Amino acid sequence: MTGLLTIVFCAVPLLVIILIIVFHKNFVKRQSKYLKNVPGPKPNPIFGNMLDFAVPSHQFFNVIESYINQHGMIYQIYDGPLSSMLIILDEKLIEYVLSSTKIIEKTDQYKYFHNWLGTGLLTSKGSKWKKRRRMLTPAFHFSILDNFLDVFNRVGDIFMKQLEKHEDEDSFDIYPLVSLYTLDVICEAAMGTSVNAQTDGNSKYVQSVKKMCAIITDRNFSPLDTRLYPLTLNFYRERSAVKVLHSHTDAVIDRKIEQLKNCDEKNEELNDSGTKKRMAFLDLLLKSTIDGIPLTREDIREEVDTFMFEGHDTTSSAISFAMYSLANNQRVQQKALEEQIEIFGGNNKEARSTTADLQKMKYLELVIKETLRLYPSVPFFSRKVNEDFEWENSTFPKGQNLLIIPYMAQRNAKYYPKPLEFNPERFLEIDGTNPYRYVPFSAGPRNCIGQKFAMLEMKSTLSKVLRSFELLPSNPHQELKLAPEIILVSKSGIHISLKKRK
Ligand code: HEM
Repeated sequence: MTGLLTIVFCAVPLLVIILIIVFHKNFVKRQSKYLKNVPGPKPNPIFGNMLDFAVPSHQFFNVIESYINQHGMIYQIYDGPLSSMLIILDEKLIEYVLSSTKIIEKTDQYKYFHNWLGTGLLTSKGSKWKKRRRMLTPAFHFSILDNFLDVFNRVGDIFMKQLEKHEDEDSFDIYPLVSLYTLDVICEAAMGTSVNAQTDGNSKYVQSVKKMCAIITDRNFSPLDTRLYPLTLNFYRERSAVKVLHSHTDAVIDRKIEQLKNCDEKNEELNDSGTKKRMAFLDLLLKSTIDGIPLTREDIREEVDTFMFEGHDTTSSAISFAMYSLANNQRVQQKALEEQIEIFGGNNKEARSTTADLQKMKYLELVIKETLRLYPSVPFFSRKVNEDFEWENSTFPKGQNLLIIPYMAQRNAKYYPKPLEFNPERFLEIDGTNPYRYVPFSAGPRNCIGQKFAMLEMKSTLSKVLRSFELLPSNPHQELKLAPEIILVSKSGIHISLKKRK
């Protein structure tokens, strides 16, 4: 009996491995039939190329860079024995993919978000995505953005007070403070409720977002079969993180429902001129219908979770890297400061930016663009091919996964001379170049819905920071350890030093 059991225990896994190898060989043959001219590293029959990614997350970009050096701007890696990903850095192919109205579905990797974000706007597909996108677009229309300036100014004042607590320190990590600030902004601006994250120091939500991003990154790059996930520690970590995240968003929704009950709806929905007012994001979710049916509590929560995450973590990454870049590039900081003085006059710390002021901040806009070139908050994103298409003698087959990596494309010397130099003026000389070489907000029908909101928030915040503080490099200098944990982060923190302006 024991002998039989031993044979079964050995034979079954062996058979599975043999089958995987056979299927993998067929899959590779099929891929090379379609993708004739597409190079790539040789895959392992069980793990594909994933063993190369068994390194700390801040070394992922090194692996990708070494592939680019060997295989060029379009190459294929195997993210499992039976699955492959085409890495695209070529601007023309990026243009083809992102401008397509057909290639708008995300890859299966986005399913790792489902326990947390459900199938909200970021992860949904097909008609659900189309209807939700149509419904939510007015909440970020430029005509409503003016309403958010007061939030940026008010919450920004608290942020300045939090920064003041660190003035004259030789070195401190700005990222945790900026994360709490941007969480307060998105909650007040989009959800219409205040969570006072900065003053309460309540970072449980922010900590859980970090935990989830690290877990999803692990799962994305893991060579282990996803069916083994419930046996891992991450499975239990994810459960407790999701509990914290959902209880936070539930509280925000409940508070808003309570507020709506207590206010005069007629006044809420009309402008001073009596015309219909555009509703803020959460009001829109609570009051709108799709095909005549109101959204369920679950529908609402998945969108609140999605926008709360996308709306705060992306901007906190961008603002932190912009502050770091200003601290480490005094010429750029001086020029950006002079622009602020020109707009607001000499003693300008207390001034509150208006829309007209923000529009005048042309140099600051270049600084933000250059920050997002070197440090795109979303360092990569993917698409799935929905029907075969031809590209340079290859056929990209239906179902093929595509990965676009703005982080690598935007640091490529072919597109940007001296790519690692922080030089905002480079954007003054880009006339005639393909706009798809620069896609920090993605592009086309599935681009970032919050792009204009994000630009205003970043401008308003950096304007305040520049007028209040001199930003200096940390002492001792702290090297960034950049890692794509869904959002671009620095594993060594983002350290600078601050001196209050007189
Ligand atoms: C610096 C700030 C930001 C950057 C760099 C950024 C970047 C991006 C990128 C690259 C995508 C495409 C992701 C993909 O295809 O998987 C995206 C999508 C999205 N972003 Fe942003 N984002 C920023 C700020 C925001 C803000 C402030 C909000 C909300 C207020 C937001 C909400 C979203 C949503 C909901 C999507 C999914 C859109 C869809 O699939 O239709 N983002 N963002």
